[in-house]
Amino acid sequence: MSQRQRADIEWKDGAVPVATRFDDPYFSIADGLAETRHVFLTGNDLPARFTPGFRIAELGIGTGLNLLAALIAWRAAGVAGPLRYTGFEAFPMDAGDMDRALRAFPEAHAVAGPLVDAWRAGATRFQSDDLDAEFIFGDARETLPRWAGRAEAWFLDGFAPAKNPELWSPELMAQVAAHTVPGGTAATYTAAGFVRRGLAEGRFEVERRPGFGRKRHMTVARLSA
Ligand SMILES: C[S@@+](CC[C@H](N)C(=O)[O-])C[C@H]1O[C@@H](n2cnc3c(N)ncnc32)[C@H](O)[C@@H]1O
Repeated sequence: MSQRQRADIEWKDGAVPVATRFDDPYFSIADGLAETRHVFLTGNDLPARFTPGFRIAELGIGTGLNLLAALIAWRAAGVAGPLRYTGFEAFPMDAGDMDRALRAFPEAHAVAGPLVDAWRAGATRFQSDDLDAEFIFGDARETLPRWAGRAEAWFLDGFAPAKNPELWSPELMAQVAAHTVPGGTAATYTAAGFVRRGLAEGRFEVERRPGFGRKRHMTVARLSA
């Protein structure tokens, strides 16, 4: 892990991690878990689309909150076998910071222990009865083109597009499309025009939906089947 660039964190109100490099919080101050469920689960029509072997991919693993929300939904849905997850991350958080961040969401923190332990040990793969997760470290602009997999559902969760434009570029959105199965989807909290255009250029059908809380809009995208 030593050669990886670490995330530098400041804490807002003692509980919300803010990345100093991007000057942006990792999750919504109001209710991060509810926002995750609205944007990334409902946005991708989950859990309704869960089937055995379903794969989620995510740009920006961050605290792991989105992954844990998906795992909780997978368990509740009772689908056979493990949920498959591939997360891309350039600046991994320290495991202690991850654990501290997740304490804000007792439901997620309650199931986070084995994952945080694996993260602390520098694992790039975590396997259990109901989760098969891989963590791909490095700049997603370099690592995603090299990834051999394709996802049924994408969580596009970079920091705000104005602060982290490299994780929302048209080239990267085209790579997301290239790594999505026919009929697969992507969801994001942002409705920024250049992100929606990038997804559309990547052959997604793009739709604006009501956002979470005070955010008016979010974006969902679907590849034709
Ligand atoms: C809003 S946070 C993600 C929050 C996360 N999904 C969660 O559940 O906590 C954005 C993440 O994108 C990562 N990131 C930013 N630029 C990146 C890049 N070029 N390649 C890969 N990851 C990047 C950041 O380090 C950060 O972890």
